[in-house]
Order: sequence, then C-alpha cells, then structure tokens
Amino acid sequence: MISASSLTAICILASVLAIRVLHRRSSQSSNLPPLVAIPDEQLFGNPRHAYETALKQYGKIIGVPRKNRLEYIVDQTFVAEVLTNDKVYSFEHGTLSMLNLHILLALPRSFMHEIDRVVQDHIVSDLDDSVDRIAPVFDKLAKKLAAPLSSECQPIAVEIDSEVHRMMAEAMLTLILGGHYASAAHIASTARIAVAIATLTGIFENMSWWSRTFPTVGRTWNWFKVMFIAIPYHFVLGIGWQAFSELSAITDVERSGTRKEPVIMSFARKFIDKKTHRISLIDRIWILSVILGLIFASVHQTAVVIMWVVCELAKRPEYIQEFRTDTFTETSEDGAQRLTYASLQNAERLDSFIREVMRTKGDTLSTVRQTVSDTALAGYVIPKGSFVIPLATLANEDENHYGENAKVFVGDRWVGTGKPATMVSPNYFPFGLGRWACPGRGLAVAEIKLFILSLIAHANLSLENGEYRVVDPLNVTSVAPKGRIFLHPLFS
Ligand code: HEM
Repeated sequence: MISASSLTAICILASVLAIRVLHRRSSQSSNLPPLVAIPDEQLFGNPRHAYETALKQYGKIIGVPRKNRLEYIVDQTFVAEVLTNDKVYSFEHGTLSMLNLHILLALPRSFMHEIDRVVQDHIVSDLDDSVDRIAPVFDKLAKKLAAPLSSECQPIAVEIDSEVHRMMAEAMLTLILGGHYASAAHIASTARIAVAIATLTGIFENMSWWSRTFPTVGRTWNWFKVMFIAIPYHFVLGIGWQAFSELSAITDVERSGTRKEPVIMSFARKFIDKKTHRISLIDRIWILSVILGLIFASVHQTAVVIMWVVCELAKRPEYIQEFRTDTFTETSEDGAQRLTYASLQNAERLDSFIREVMRTKGDTLSTVRQTVSDTALAGYVIPKGSFVIPLATLANEDENHYGENAKVFVGDRWVGTGKPATMVSPNYFPFGLGRWACPGRGLAVAEIKLFILSLIAHANLSLENGEYRVVDPLNVTSVAPKGRIFLHPLFS
C-alpha cells in the first residue's frame, strides 16, 4: 500500500518534471528565470524561510512550482514595477485566475472595475456616514462579550473568531443592503457565504493534504459545492431573492430625497433605463453578482485582520491604556456616547499599532499579477500568462528601508510620521499597491478601530501563555491566527 507521504512525493515529482519539460521547451527560445523546486514541507511549513533562502541563492527572481502551477517570485527590488505597471502585469488577470475565478474575465463588463467603483463612489466617498451606520454593530458585540464580566471578577475566556465573522457580516449587510437585512438568518448566511467563497478561491487549500496534492480535483469539487449548494442556498434563496424583488420595484421617480440609501440602491440607480424607468433583468443579476463579490471582499478579509490585531493586542496589553487615553467620543441626540469617523481618525496610536500588525504579521504571497505578454525582468524573460508575486516579507521587513529593528514589532513606530495604516508603499503593501490597491482600506481600518475601541471600553485583554498560533504560514492574510483570548474586568 502506498503511504500518503509517498503519494505526495510522487505527485510533486510528476508536477516538477512536467513543469521542467515545459520550462525547458520555452527556454529554447527565451531566457527564463531559474526554476527552484521547494519541497512541500518547507513550502507549506515555513514558506517565508524557504522562499527567502531560494531568492538569496538563485537571484532576484525565481520560478517555483506550487499546487500544479508555476509562480515567479520576485524580491523587494521589483515590488513597485510588478505591482504598479498594470499594462504589463495585470491585476485583473492575476487576481481572478489565482482565485480560480477566471470565468469572470470572459464577461463583456469588467467585474473588478464595477466593484471598485461601488466601493469608491458609494462607500468610501462618505466614510462619516458609513461609520455612523455600522458603529452600533461593533458596540453591540463588545457589550455582549464583556457582559459576563459585570457578575464575574475573574477573567473570562472568549471564543471570538466566529462572533467577529458574524459581526462583520452584520456590518456589511447593514451598509450594503440596509438594516432590514440584518436578521439572524441573513447574518448567518452572509458569514457562511464569505467563508464558502473564500474556500472556492483556494485560500484554505494550503491546510488540506488532499487539496495540496490534488489541486485540480480539490478546486473542481469546491466549485461544485459553492456554485450549486452554498450560493443558491445561502444567498440566492434568501438575501438574493429579497434584494432582487426590491431592485425590480425600484424606479427613477422614487428617489429618497436627502435620506441616505443603502449602497445597493444608490448603485442600482445608474442602471435604471430611461425609457422603461426600470432595471433590466440582466442588470439586476449583474448588480447582485457585484454585491456578492463585495460581501466576499469585505467580510472575511476584515474579520481575519481584526483577529490578528486582537491577538497582537492581547499579547501586548500594555498598549491598551494609551489607546483609551487617545479616544474621544461624541454625544448622540439621546445623550449616549458614540464613536464617529472623527474619533477613529484621532486614534493615532491605535492606527500605528494596526499598521505595525499588518506590516509584521508575515504576509508572504499576498498580491499577484499576471503577465499579458512575454516580459523582460532582471535580465530574464517571463512568459506571457505567468503569475508574478513579490515576496512580501522581504519588502515589509527590509532592513535597508526600516533600519536594524525592521523585524521588531514597535507598536508606536508610526506615531507622528504621517503614515497611517491605509498608506501603502513598495515597503508596506498589505492592501496591495498601485491602481488596484484595496479601495476599501479606509473602511477596513475604521472597522478594526471600531471593534478594538468598543472592546477596550468594556474590558482588558490577555492571551493564554502570551502566545497565539499561526494556522497557515503561507496565507496569514486570509487565515486568522488562533489563540485563547481572556477578557478582564476594567477595575479588578
Ligand atoms: C483588512 C481588510 C482588508 C485587506 C487586508 C484587504 C486587502 C486587499 C488586497 C491585498 C487587495 C489586492 C490589491 C492589489 O493586488 O494591489 C484588495 C483588493 C480589493 N479590496 Fe480589499 N482588503 C480589505 C478589506 C476590504 C474591504 C472592507 C472592502 C470593501 C468595502 C474591500 C474591497 C476590495 C476590492 C473591491 C478589491 C479589488 C481591487 C479594486 O477594486 O481596486 N477590501 N484588498
């Protein structure tokens, strides 16, 4: 009987041989970067060390096979060129293909441009309003988590990962579709959809032996599950149908005056036909698809980064009091104190802490581009259609840029520097870089602050044994760390 490890070894050998043959064939006509086969244990177990060592040994650009694909990994010197020269290194082709969503490239409209416009025009254009709408959701979870503390003097362990996912689902449902969508059933469906699409896009593949060894079978199975079960069941039959009916009833005469509409309604208005005063069936389906994409882009990713910040803060509780001192709230009409966008902007130390968490959390392959033609780089030629990925750790922790303590976590490193957590550069790109840098990052950082400030208003934090566990070192961007978080009473 062949053991699992022998089978893995055979599969790796076969893929490396196949890639080598293809590689050699194309080398006859061009000058390809060196091909480096990194064993699975190193690639998935300690990817940062494996890639960094290979780059040091073979040069600034290497081809590395991973899960049946050949990826070109570049060091920090090529971050700006690869991530910002969209004419040659395409964001849309790279990201959609890497996420197993190539099918969207065949559509007559650009899915990515549309989703980008929705975020720019209807969410971040008025962050004051967006924050006002969602702030109560964050406050509600913080109060719920801390509620047992009023009767207990002892610290309590809290399981917050799934709660944070549901909170993000509720916040984005409220903002995108309206408060009337924030029922328990819709929130649970949205949280499930976000995780299901995350699975479809392969972000959990690294952790499963089957998906790593038989990536094509794994991807096909995930496609089937998500397209034919998760999306119809969790989205189309519930939220999707309700939103479809609302879109069917929308006309250009019923504008809601000065009152702000949910994102979907203000976005939908541009599709109203001037003659029929209605939105066509195709456009209604298009709007719903874009909204589904937006839910995926915003819910899961932000929930994961919130967990990173919570774990880092619970590990370093000495920062908490400073964050409280920085915080000011505004008084609502009913006399209650509330956080506004202005309060969040004022929280400079927390902003610095968030930037430092995002810089040092160990992103490896976080942003990807695909060459649209044979492309010269560093004396080599990268063939058309290749994935090109900068190794983020080398840039985010570059000693030439940050100095000797580049690898050290310094929570207040950014205070007074004029570099907020949202400001990207070739040495800090957790939100990407260039034309396609994450358009929702202003909202994302505001949401992280909303949760942290709401939580520390009610409790202190600590982490069991002062340590958390990195679950997937090759994908820290989309897989949350695990740690046992404790809440402590404020005055004990
Ligand atoms: C902490 C949370 C988030 C992180 C770490 C994150 C990170 C990223 C990254 C790395 C990219 C690719 C950029 C590139 O390749 O250059 C991206 C793209 C994108 N993100 Fe985010 N994101 C977050 C939250 C959000 C939120 C809340 C929204 C929506 C409100 C959003 C909407 C998008 C969209 C639509 C894109 C596609 C690119 C574009 O339209 O320009 N993201 N994000």
